[in-house]
Amino acid sequence: MPAVERSGLHRFVWGLLVVLTITAAYLYTFPQTNVFYASIVLLHAGAGVLATILFLVYVWKRWRNQPAEERLGWFLLTAGAAAGLVLIYTGTSRSHWNLLYLHIVLALVGLGMLIAAWWKRRAGTLPGVARIVVVLAVIAGLGAASSYLRNTRWQKRARIENPSLPPATMDGEGDGPSGPFFPSSAQVANAKKIPSKFFMESDSCQRCHADIYNQWYSSVHHFSSFNNQWYRKSIEYMQDVVGTRPSKWCGGCHDPAVLYSGMMDTPIRQIVHRPEAQAGLGCMMCHSIVSVKSTMGQGDFYLEYPKLHELAASKNPLRRRLHDFLVNLNPEPHRRVFLKPFMRDQTAEFCSSCHKVHLDVP
Ligand code: HEC
Ligand code: HEC
Ligand code: HEC
Ligand code: HEC
Repeated sequence: MPAVERSGLHRFVWGLLVVLTITAAYLYTFPQTNVFYASIVLLHAGAGVLATILFLVYVWKRWRNQPAEERLGWFLLTAGAAAGLVLIYTGTSRSHWNLLYLHIVLALVGLGMLIAAWWKRRAGTLPGVARIVVVLAVIAGLGAASSYLRNTRWQKRARIENPSLPPATMDGEGDGPSGPFFPSSAQVANAKKIPSKFFMESDSCQRCHADIYNQWYSSVHHFSSFNNQWYRKSIEYMQDVVGTRPSKWCGGCHDPAVLYSGMMDTPIRQIVHRPEAQAGLGCMMCHSIVSVKSTMGQGDFYLEYPKLHELAASKNPLRRRLHDFLVNLNPEPHRRVFLKPFMRDQTAEFCSSCHKVHLDVP
């Protein structure tokens, strides 16, 4: 082997390549919302920036005494890295998916060429083209397996299906009579309450989804709570006559910020002017539903409180900037928190979880 191959730079460049390959495989195959995944996103991007510079230096130094295969490999990797640099700047929302796929394909084919060249140096008895074909076929196979792990399980998750029979008595609804929201059928993961602030942070979505926010702002859903005088009077009358508990059934659909925080145990006359009571159905009401248990119009769903959203709604400009950078760089975890596949594939069923009560599917 020529001396240059064992240099520190050589080892470092190959080390970076290994880090980039492993992080890329992980990021693609197992998108999830946690600090570990977010750190890997940053690691991949950081290593990518460093690699782009070093690839250039390394390729420049070794260009002449390399076999054609290896030259092509380094050339494709460097081009892939350049696409990666652009993506760090633009983010990878749907409108940049063409560039994202280009980045992935260039990097994988480049890597394949280098592996084929390495194989030749080791024990190459197969002719060059056959080696390259075998390596690329293995990479394509692994890619297909990752794609299966990434998409198929996710798409099948929490499809909306009605049970064959409704509960025999009202006590079978939701968490049952001892549940915090009973008689509403709605449940929160681990029977916890959700801080009312969570349902009042629609404006934290506005900075990136301005159009949807504006449509929602003037929609009926924004005025479903005690900012709707007909509703307010109905509940005030109802509570005067039968107490607060039965009115929690209404809250499951009308007043997320009041019900799911536990405030609906207080007569509404005492709290009607508080912002929680005026919030309506914010973005989070629908976008934190993780499964719909039935579409019989009972508000029969599960909500989940995604802890990490605190980063999104943070008032600290540094944390907020980090969140926004990460969401733009790799929006998939954000998508998976806020849009379960059934919302898109079974929209009518989704809406029916609230809408059967007064009207059939809108
Ligand atoms: C920093 C900007 C940013 C903020 C803040 C933000 N989003 Fe997003 N959101 C994005 C990006 C980027 C995407 C990916 C869009 C794409 O791929 O086209 C996305 C996608 C989504 C999607 C899925 C769309 C799809 O096509 O799959 C939903 C739902 C969503 N956001 C809801 C919300 C909600 C609710 C909030 C407020 C809590 C919010 N977002 C706040 C940037 C943001
Ligand atoms: C969490 C429960 C809930 C879900 C889920 C829900 N809605 Fe609603 N919707 C309401 C409530 C409550 C009102 C009544 C608000 C008011 O008038 O005070 C309403 C009102 C409406 C109205 C106005 C009806 C009218 O006669 O004025 C339309 C249209 C509507 N929703 C469409 C939809 C669509 C489409 C979906 C599915 C994407 C949906 N809703 C999902 C609770 C829900
Ligand atoms: C399962 C979800 C759900 C429950 C529970 C529910 N509602 Fe509604 N409510 C809706 C929907 C959806 C609409 C809008 C339907 C439409 O306009 O066609 C609505 C509309 C209304 C309206 C009309 C508002 C307007 O501006 O026209 C009033 C008043 C109302 N509900 C009061 C109540 C009361 C009181 C309760 C409890 C006794 C209750 N609702 C329980 C989903 C629900
Ligand atoms: C009544 C329930 C409901 C409310 C309230 C609601 N959404 Fe949605 N949203 C949905 C559903 C259902 C979909 C999926 C629709 C589809 O793709 O067919 C969706 C889709 C989206 C998408 C993806 C749109 C796209 O074009 O791919 C974004 C982003 C989004 N919502 C953001 C928001 C924001 C921000 C708010 C608050 C300002 C909000 N939503 C309020 C039910 C709701």
